[in-house]
Formats: sequence, structure tokens, C-alpha cells
Amino acid sequence: MEFATKSRQALVPMAAVLLPSCSGVQSALDPAGFEATALAHLFWVMLIGSAVIWVVVLGLARYAARRDRASWSHRSAGRLILWGGAVVPTTVLAALLVYGLMLMPDLRAPGGPLHVHVEGEQFWWRVRYAAPDGTMVETANEIRLPVGQRVELRITARDVIHSFWVPSLAGKMDAIPGRTNRLVLEPTETGRFRGACAEFCGASHALMAFTVEVMEPEAFTEWLTAQAQPVQATADPGQAAFLRHGCGACHTVRGTAAAGRIGPDLTHLARRPTIAAGILENTQENRITFIAQPRAVKPAALMPEFGMLPQQEIAAIATWLGGLR
Ligand code: CUA
Repeated sequence: MEFATKSRQALVPMAAVLLPSCSGVQSALDPAGFEATALAHLFWVMLIGSAVIWVVVLGLARYAARRDRASWSHRSAGRLILWGGAVVPTTVLAALLVYGLMLMPDLRAPGGPLHVHVEGEQFWWRVRYAAPDGTMVETANEIRLPVGQRVELRITARDVIHSFWVPSLAGKMDAIPGRTNRLVLEPTETGRFRGACAEFCGASHALMAFTVEVMEPEAFTEWLTAQAQPVQATADPGQAAFLRHGCGACHTVRGTAAAGRIGPDLTHLARRPTIAAGILENTQENRITFIAQPRAVKPAALMPEFGMLPQQEIAAIATWLGGLR
């Protein structure tokens, strides 16, 4: 009795810790997309199904243990094993299998005209869109999608296997070098969601996040059109320092001489909510930190450390990048 009270008391703080993880910007149990909703339903149906199996099998085991041994005939013992050990689990599991299979055609339905190419890198995400005028627009660690439209993501990787996962919108999809996997999803709510890499890919695997912003279709088109524009080249000292110190060998800033392909495209960096693949807020202080010591933020990142540059040059580069809208 005392044990029962104690375990009930323990349940309260446990629930307080566990329940908030059922909602928020990165929860499969708080779906904001058609696919994620189907998966959340599947989860609850599976949970209830397994609870039914658990209750029935334990109930039968308890009944069998309490019943007087002498009263068991060979036949009644066999019947108990047949029902509790075979019929109930098989029926429930078969029903769950049929339900799971019935969801598959919807999850594999073809996407709409919008395609987003996503490439896993160590340790960030290269994102490319085909703009309405046919040009390819590249960005990084940020995906924007129009609400209520089916979108096809074409997912691949450059060097090692990653896994693309936005729990609020859809299931996981592996990003495999040399192969392009399709993930079709349809966001049903606007808002900003968080995605993560779900496959161990190296030292900064856990630091490889991204944001997905679901917008009204007009706002999305506006954003994509703006992204397709180059930035205005200026006589900014930050831009001069960026080019002088060779940043353009790895990074592209469309509209300037910087056309590197190794690192993230930094055109319109100021519009992104985060830097360093979802790890730092996009503030002046954080941009300075990342330029000076990228590996302190992100171990084993390919970006070299630029802490040896004069402080005011780093600050000028960070200011210029922070103004690239
Ligand atoms: Cu990329 Cu884990």
C-alpha cells in the first residue's frame, strides 16, 4: 500500500519532466504537418495496442499464478497459453500492421511542383531551391516552406551519412552520399520548427540543426524572390576584409567576388535566425565568436579559425555579414 502511494508520488515529478517534451518546436507528438499527424496517430495507436497486449498478458499471468495448481487440467493450461500467448498478441499486432500499411500510400504520394534540394555536410545543411525564374537559389541551415502545399525534398549528402529530421513535420530520411532520397511533406500550420541530424556523423553530429519556417504562400514567394537577388556590392570595409582574407574561397556571397563552394552560401545571411547550423543566434557577438573560433563552437568543423586577424577586422566582417539582407 505504502509502495503504491510512493510510486504515485513519484509519477507527478516524472510527468512534469516528460510532458513538456510532448509539445514545442521539435516534437513528433505536436505535429504541424500532414505526414507528422499520420505518424503521431500511428504512435498513439501502437501505444494503445501494446498497452492492451501488456494488460491482457499480465492479467492472464496473474490469474494463472493465483489459481490453485491442482485445479489446472492439461487442456485448460494449453488454452491459457494459446489465448494469452498467441491469439491476443497476434490479433493486436496484425491489426497494427494493417493500420501501418494503410498509412503508407499517403506518405508516399508524389509532391507538388516545389522541390527543395537538401545536402548534408559536416556539419551543416546545404539547401537549394529553384526560383520561379529558373535560377537556383542556395541557402544554408534554413528551409522555408509554404503552408498547405505538398513539397518534395530531395535529400543527399556529400561525405558521410546524415539523417534529415523535422519531427513536427514528417518522419526521418537518410541523407546518403551518391544517392538522392525523396521526402514529401505538407505543412499544415505556419510557424518556426526545429530540425536536427538524426544519424551519428562525426564530432559535431549533435550540433547540426536547422530551422524550418512555414509561411503563408505569398510571403514564401516574396522570400524566395528576394533570396534570388544578389546583394549590393559596396565599399564596406567588412566586405573588403572578407575578400582580402580569402573567405570567398569557401563561401559565396552573390553579388560580390566571393564564389566559394565549400562552405555555406552567405548571401542574405542577415535574414537567417541562427548561424553555425542552428546552434547560435544570429547576433553580432555570435558572428564574431564563430569567425574567430568556429571549432570552439563546433568541434571538427572544416572552417579554419580566424582569431589571428585584428579584432576590428573580424568585427567589420561580422557587421557586414549582419547587414546582408
Ligand atoms: Cu549529420 Cu549527424
